Amino acid sequence: MQMHDTRKAMVAACLEMNRLGLNQGTSGNLSVRVGERLLVTPTAVAYERLAPDMLVSMLIGDEEGRWSGPCAPSSEWRFHSDILRARPDIGAVVHCHATYATVLSMLRLPIPAAHYMIAAFGGTEIACTDYAPYGTPELSSLAVEGLGPRHGVLLGSHGMIATGRTLEEAMWRALELETLARQYYLARAIGQPVVLPDAAINALIPRFAAYGASANALPEREGGSEGAG
Ligand code: 13P
Repeated sequence: MQMHDTRKAMVAACLEMNRLGLNQGTSGNLSVRVGERLLVTPTAVAYERLAPDMLVSMLIGDEEGRWSGPCAPSSEWRFHSDILRARPDIGAVVHCHATYATVLSMLRLPIPAAHYMIAAFGGTEIACTDYAPYGTPELSSLAVEGLGPRHGVLLGSHGMIATGRTLEEAMWRALELETLARQYYLARAIGQPVVLPDAAINALIPRFAAYGASANALPEREGGSEGAG
C-alpha cells in the first residue's frame, strides 16, 4: 500500500467508527505502523473534518513524541507508540469510547469467556485496567500491561483498545469487542453468564490466528519515507 493509500484508509476507518456508533465527537484515535514509524490521528479533530494530510507521522518508541506537519498528534500517541513497540505482531491500534465497553470499564469488569468470540482476541478474557488520566505515561503502561499478548483491553473509566495485524483487522476487533461487551452486559442484566472453560477457548485461539489471514495481510513496510517527525 502506498503512503497516501494508508492515510486515505485511516480517514475512511475513522468515518466508519462514527458510522458504526463506536465513536462520537473528537474522542477516539487510531494508528498504523509504517516501517519504523507510525501514522496517528491528530488530536481534537472531528472525523468529519479529517483529511489524509492531517495524519501525524512519529517514530515508534520516541519518548519525546516528536512530530511534524500541520496538526499535533493524538493525546494518546504514547500508548499507540508503546503498543507498536512492545508488539511487533501488531500493525494497527484502534482506541474508542464505545458505550458498552466503556460501561464495563466504569465498573472495572473484565470480559470473561461467556461467548466463544473472546478467542478472536487471543486469550480467555479481556482485561480491564485501573484508571489513569488520558495521555499519560501511566495510562500507556496500564494499556500495554492490560493488553498483554492479546488484541483487546478495557481502560478503566475510559474506553477500549483493539489491535490487529492490519487496520482492517483492528477495526473488525473494535466492533467485535463492543459486541462482546454489549452481550455480556445484557446477559448479566438477567442472570449469571456461563463462563466457558479455558481449554475450550484455548482450542479456538489457533483457529482465530489464521482467521482472515489471507484477506488481511500485513501492511507493506514503507521505511519512514515521511521525513523527520
Ligand atoms: P485525541 O483527540 O487527543 O485523540 O483524544 C481523544 C481521546 O479519546 C483521548 O483518550
